[in-house]
Amino acid sequence: MVSVAIMGHGVVGSGVAEILTTHKKKLFAGLGEEIYIKKILDLREFPDSPLADRFTKDFNDILNDREIRVVAEVMGGVNPAYDFVKKCLKSGKSVVTSNKELVAAKGAELLEIAKENNVNFLFEASVGGGIPIIRPMSQCLVANNVDEVAGILNGTTNFILTKMIADGMQFDDALKLAQDLGFAERNPAADIEGHDACRKICILASLAYGKHVYPDAVHTEGITKITLEDVKYAEAFGCVIKLIGKVKKLEDGKIDILVAPMLVPNESQLANIDYEFNGIMVRGDCTGDVVFYGKGAGKLPTASAVVADIVDCCKHLKTRKYLYWTDGDGKNILPAEQSVSAMYVRANGTDVISKAENIFGSVSVIERADADDTAFVTSEITYGEFNEKIASLANDGVEVLSTIRIGDL
Ligand code: HSE
Repeated sequence: MVSVAIMGHGVVGSGVAEILTTHKKKLFAGLGEEIYIKKILDLREFPDSPLADRFTKDFNDILNDREIRVVAEVMGGVNPAYDFVKKCLKSGKSVVTSNKELVAAKGAELLEIAKENNVNFLFEASVGGGIPIIRPMSQCLVANNVDEVAGILNGTTNFILTKMIADGMQFDDALKLAQDLGFAERNPAADIEGHDACRKICILASLAYGKHVYPDAVHTEGITKITLEDVKYAEAFGCVIKLIGKVKKLEDGKIDILVAPMLVPNESQLANIDYEFNGIMVRGDCTGDVVFYGKGAGKLPTASAVVADIVDCCKHLKTRKYLYWTDGDGKNILPAEQSVSAMYVRANGTDVISKAENIFGSVSVIERADADDTAFVTSEITYGEFNEKIASLANDGVEVLSTIRIGDL
């Protein structure tokens, strides 16, 4: 029997307790031993829980219990999770977590502490919820040099954009629906401003390229400025708008990493990933494109990944799994101004296209019968040069209403 503890009994934590209870026999068959939930940490009372006798409000009850070998951190947020995880690792306990904020902020340090203490720190659930992505990248695809990772990494924003595209809903109405259905938080800022997707692409980039990428170093845009007009122009151009997290290895060894809404061509494998689903494309130099698809959030999908990590830790109590990257100083990250992409522009004014062609050279006009504005797509351009030219267009009396990258996906 292996004793484990769960820190946090919210949506994911209660899902972990549920799966460990309802799937006891299945897990026994896979591990050859029983996984016993010895303690659950939460400040709230759960008198009606079948595990009511295991709850504690004191973290030290877990830390000081030598029988507990594996701890699942499913509290969320950096504090106090960081302190608790560090202490558990230092005391020789393996830790698994679903906490992308923690891994994106402190992953390199926690991996180092795990290594020093000969224990494991696993975080399959931190990206893509129930979709296997960390283990496939660190094990199944390990023979590949990863050329690029691109994905729809946030279910909330994908749900909102899908509702705008499929049902013509306004952004605010789609957000409210997402909140009513429980996909979006009451405070949706981390999702709609792109920070959640940024943390996830940082984790994947760190894993793919071996150096920690911190969220502050990544150009991040959310979806709050996307309008139905943009959605309709995208459709006329044979695209859908998706919030994409993307990292690409360049020839000079730098990485081009960003989170932004993009016009994704209908033929792309990411174009049909809709509603709250996530999809992640990994381009390996041996495999070519490998695409992972599924539920990126939710109680049982996320808990499924946490439990898989618990089982993996139980199987490797005396050995370390090789999952590791070193700290990063950001010097391997291409400055956002140098990142290259074709750009969609929606604008208003007189002679917009001739003024745009004077500044950008030839552009592709997007025709739409029922439109009041004008939209065009530039050829590939660095983001820095694009912004300078957009300022010139504005100086020429054109009102620039919207600019969005064209996804090369
Ligand atoms: N808010 C996140 C999402 C939850 O919508 O994808 C899973 O990380």
